[in-house]
Amino acid sequence: MAKENTAIFTFFGASGDLAKRKLYPSLFKLYQKGYLKDHFAIIGTSRADWTNDEFQGIVSESISDIKEESKNQANEFVSHFYYIAHDVTDKAHYAALDELINKLDKQYEANGNRLFYLSMAPSFFGQIALNLKSEGLITQEGYNRLVIEKPFGRDYKSAKQLNEELTSTFEEDQIYRIDHYLGKEMIQNIEALRFGNTIIESLWNNRYIDNVQITLSEKLGVEDRASYYDTSGALRDMVQNHILQIVSQLAMEQPVAFTDADVRVEKVKALRSLRVYTPSEAAGNFVRGQYDAGDTGNEYRDESGVPDDSNTETFVAGKLLFDNYRWSGVPFYIRTGKKLADKFTRIDVVFKKPLIDIFAFPQKSDAALQANVLTIYVEPQSGFSLKVNAKSTGQGFETEPVNLDFFQDADKEKEVPEPYERLLHDALEGNSTNFASWSEVAYAWKFVDVIRKLWDIEEPIFPNYLPGSMGPVASDELLQKDHRAWVYRLNK
Ligand code: BG6
Repeated sequence: MAKENTAIFTFFGASGDLAKRKLYPSLFKLYQKGYLKDHFAIIGTSRADWTNDEFQGIVSESISDIKEESKNQANEFVSHFYYIAHDVTDKAHYAALDELINKLDKQYEANGNRLFYLSMAPSFFGQIALNLKSEGLITQEGYNRLVIEKPFGRDYKSAKQLNEELTSTFEEDQIYRIDHYLGKEMIQNIEALRFGNTIIESLWNNRYIDNVQITLSEKLGVEDRASYYDTSGALRDMVQNHILQIVSQLAMEQPVAFTDADVRVEKVKALRSLRVYTPSEAAGNFVRGQYDAGDTGNEYRDESGVPDDSNTETFVAGKLLFDNYRWSGVPFYIRTGKKLADKFTRIDVVFKKPLIDIFAFPQKSDAALQANVLTIYVEPQSGFSLKVNAKSTGQGFETEPVNLDFFQDADKEKEVPEPYERLLHDALEGNSTNFASWSEVAYAWKFVDVIRKLWDIEEPIFPNYLPGSMGPVASDELLQKDHRAWVYRLNK
C-alpha cells in the first residue's frame, strides 16, 4: 500500500517547459499511485498573470496523455493546483505567497510540510532561498525542503557561492539537488548489481577490470535550447553532473548500509580520489567536438540562436583516472555528444583477458579469446549483458564470445517510473540517496574546471564531426593511444 505524503509544494518556474513536460505528469502519477492523496496542494508561481483556472488548464493539458482512462481522477488532482503571480526579486511578493501557503496548509492539513521547487533561471536560486528565510516562509512546524534544478553553478567558484546562499537558509540535508540520471532505473541498478552479487563485486577492481566506458549518446541537436546550451556546452551540461555521478557510483567503495548518508560518504570519497589534471594532462586526456551540417540539419553554428563563431562543444570524450587502491591504473573513458548515431546510454565494463590463452595454438588467430565485457544498458532498453567466451558448437575446438543477457520485458518497462516521478517521491520521503550532495558537486567542478579553463583559451578547429557518427576521430584516437577501442562503435 502506498504511503500518503502530505506537503504544500511551491513551484518557482511553474510556466516553464520542464514543469509541463515532467513535473506535473510525474506528480499525477504519484497521485494515481496514492503517494499523494488528499493532504497536498501545489502552488505555481511565475511572472505570468494567470488565474487559478488558467493554471489548472495548463496542468490539465500537461497530463492529457495519461488522464484519458481516469478523467475524474485527473480533475480531482488538478483541483489541488493554485496559482499566484510572483516576482522572485520583489520581497513584498513573498508575503502573499506565505499567506497562500498557510491557508492551503490549513485547508489540506499538510502539517506544515513545505517543499520549494526551483525550476527557473539559476541566477535567481540564491536570492529565492534568502528571501524565503528573511520573509518568514520557513516553518518550524513541519519540514522545509528545497529541490533545485541544474545547473548548480558554472564552475567551482560560482557553485560555492550559490551553495553559501542556499545554506544560509537551508541545511545541507534539506537541499535536494536534482540530477535526473540518478532517477533512472538502470543507474540505480548499478548499486544492486555491484553490492548484491559476489561474482561482480569481487572482480570490481584493477586486478580484473581493464577499463570502464560510459557513453551518453544523443541523436538530437541543440533544438531550441541554444540560449542555455551555447553558454554551457557538453562538458558542463552532461559531464560535470550526469557522467561524474555515474562514475562515482561505479567507482565508490561499498557503503556501510544503503542509506543516503552512507552512499554519499562513499561517492564523495570516490570523487576525491579522481585525479584532477594539470592543463597539459587535460589536453592529452580530453577531446571536444562540434557537429557539422548533415544531409538534413544545420551545422551547430547555423542553429537558431547560436553565434556564427561559437566554440561551444557539442561533444566531449575523456579519460579519467583514480588515485586509489581499487582503481589505480584503470581508465574510465567517457563520451557524450549531440547529433550522434543514436540516442542511448550504456556502460561497458571491460575485464582483463585471461593471462594465458591455452586455446591459441590450435585455433585460428581471429578466434582468440576476447575480453569479458559487462554492459549495462541504461536506455532506451534496460538490461545488462555479460560477454563470455564459450566453445563454438561443432566438431573442432574453437572459442567464440556469447552473451548472457537480461533485458527487462516490455510490459515491465512501461511500469518503470520516470526519473522525475521517482525523485519527487524521494524528496517527499526525505530520502536524498539519489540527489547530489554539495561535496560531490564541488569535487566534480574542481575536476571539470581545469578542462574548461584550457578549452576557453585554446581555439578549437570546429566543426569536426558529422551528424550520425560517434563524434570526432580524436575520440577514437584517445583510446587507440592506450591500445584500446570503444566497445560500442559504428562499422565494427
Ligand atoms: C539534460 C541536458 O540534463 O539531459 C540535455 O541538459 C540532455 O542537454 C538531457 O539532452 C539528456 O537526458 P536524457 O534523460 O534524455 O538522456
